[in-house]
Amino acid sequence: MAIPVTMADILHSVPAEDKLGFGTIFTDHMFVMDYEAEKGWHSPRIVPYEKFGVYPSNMTLHYGQAIFEGIKAFRTEDDRIVVFRVNDYLNRFNQSADHLCIPRIDVREVKQGLFQLLEIEKKWVPSKLGTALYIRPFIIATDPYVGVKVSDTYRLFIILSPVGAYYAAGFNPVSIKVEDKYVRATPGGLGEAKTPANYAMSLRAQVEAKKEGYTQVLWLDAIHRKYIEEVGTMNILFKINGEIITPALNGSILSGITRRTVLEVARDWGVKATERQISIEEVYEAHDKGTLEEVFGSGTAAVISPVGELSWKGKKITINNNQTGETAHKLFDYITGLQYGKQEDKFGWVETVTKL
Ligand code: COI
Repeated sequence: MAIPVTMADILHSVPAEDKLGFGTIFTDHMFVMDYEAEKGWHSPRIVPYEKFGVYPSNMTLHYGQAIFEGIKAFRTEDDRIVVFRVNDYLNRFNQSADHLCIPRIDVREVKQGLFQLLEIEKKWVPSKLGTALYIRPFIIATDPYVGVKVSDTYRLFIILSPVGAYYAAGFNPVSIKVEDKYVRATPGGLGEAKTPANYAMSLRAQVEAKKEGYTQVLWLDAIHRKYIEEVGTMNILFKINGEIITPALNGSILSGITRRTVLEVARDWGVKATERQISIEEVYEAHDKGTLEEVFGSGTAAVISPVGELSWKGKKITINNNQTGETAHKLFDYITGLQYGKQEDKFGWVETVTKL
């Protein structure tokens, strides 16, 4: 059944593709749906993108019961609008929902709403390499109440934003501070959920790292302060002696879809790709021995982001002469090739939404 649509009075023109940054421009419409205990998720609709009202006592504003996702739609060379691994993202949305005691969504229903929204907003999907239409589904609690409890009501939104590279450096290597003072997540906590709390946790460290000239921070585990976790905006991977190594999913890092894509593609190429605990000492030792070949991040927003420099307790190491490594390059080309329809989709990750 088609979802009811209220069209916006003013339709904006699309921005120039070569000037796109990240997350500042939004399309004319959004998908919305509500939850109440008696009705479940109900009233899916597409409406103009605009401000909405909540009471100052809205529970999300006070206690952060909220989750989100980040998905991308692309315009292929033959003018199809496609989405990448959309079921994996929506299933992860439900895993985050479990962590935050938010009622699960029906993936098929939300996907249908998303596809209908993309059909309406297809002119906003850019085509230049490195650009995409970023899809941001999110759910907030809507009870007006200042006691701490699980909300009885929720609203789900899907908003769309044409984007370029997440980091100003684009596909050039970034410089990262290994954080030894603050922690992002703890065992048994919310680390693997895509929820605002994890990003709130990162802000102070981020501000301090920026002042010191770093693009991002690399988090270590909260207990030993030695095992590598993630960057916060992306997962992290190391190429040591020909092997790709990334921290195992331990409950406190995000189960990245791009991380999974990298591991699956690398293994398909016959490259050894291992998920295990890896300490910062091991990375520095590999550097000292000359076996640390590459470091790169993976994320939906960041895609593949090479790391050119790490700094831990004031000791800096330069990776691959601060140049993008061969593996990061090959992975970027292959994954974006799938997304822009230049590579045959042998994994079945790309779904066509509509044709222009
Ligand atoms: C994404 O990569 O989609 C994310 O959600 C990271 C966000 C901080 C931009």
